[in-house]
Amino acid sequence: MEELYNQRKDYTQNILLESDAKNHPIDQLNDWLMDAQKDGVHDFNAMTLSTIGTGGYPHSRIVLLREATRNGLVFYTNYNSDKGKEMELNEKVGVNFFWNNLERQVRVTGVVKRMGDVESDAYFASRPRESQLGAWASPQSKALHSREELEKLFQETTDRFEGQEVPRPPYWGGYRIIPHNFEFWQGRPSRLHDRLVYQVDADFEWCKIRLAP
Ligand SMILES: Cc1cc2nc3c(=O)[nH]c(=O)nc-3n(C[C@H](O)[C@H](O)[C@H](O)COP(=O)(O)O)c2cc1C
Repeated sequence: MEELYNQRKDYTQNILLESDAKNHPIDQLNDWLMDAQKDGVHDFNAMTLSTIGTGGYPHSRIVLLREATRNGLVFYTNYNSDKGKEMELNEKVGVNFFWNNLERQVRVTGVVKRMGDVESDAYFASRPRESQLGAWASPQSKALHSREELEKLFQETTDRFEGQEVPRPPYWGGYRIIPHNFEFWQGRPSRLHDRLVYQVDADFEWCKIRLAP
């Protein structure tokens, strides 16, 4: 496909210098999330989460970031899903954000921990009712015979909880990624991009390292 082969773009929107970058990578991430939101990026909090399967292959999919604090990065899912099972066996994960218009990428690696019931209950209670019902109705990552089967499951769930609050399913909740490495990438002209890595040093402080693009 010729369009792919000849596709070229110069990156000119922004710069990322050590002197401007925040000392804590979570502050830097929150700055860039805010910029993406202001820029009108749809699903600006969408991130690609990679987990490792038992065959050693990485598996990636999008999930939505729900919290980014010094305690880590939080997202919610079905613990019985493929990703849930993989994270139970291997807590090491990778995360990637890409904000096209801002010419920015962030990569994070870390380990996941399941969140406590109280925190997951609170988040589940804040979700729209349809999403709450969906969490009960959909056996995430399992094979279905047809679209109709899913719609039937949703209808059965709707009937089951009619007139009641929908409780959190026991197999649904949050994970907190405890990050140990961040890379912030800012596109620059002539492929001389800015890449700043944050790592924890021997004194348990975050330090910044510039990588060649
Ligand atoms: C924009 C977007 C947001 C999504 N957010 C979530 C999410 O927060 N949690 C989730 O479990 N799946 C989310 N998904 C669906 C996942 O990408 C994936 O299809 C699903 O979790 C099943 O993945 P698995 O079979 O690898 O476990 C989202 C997909 C998209 C495209």
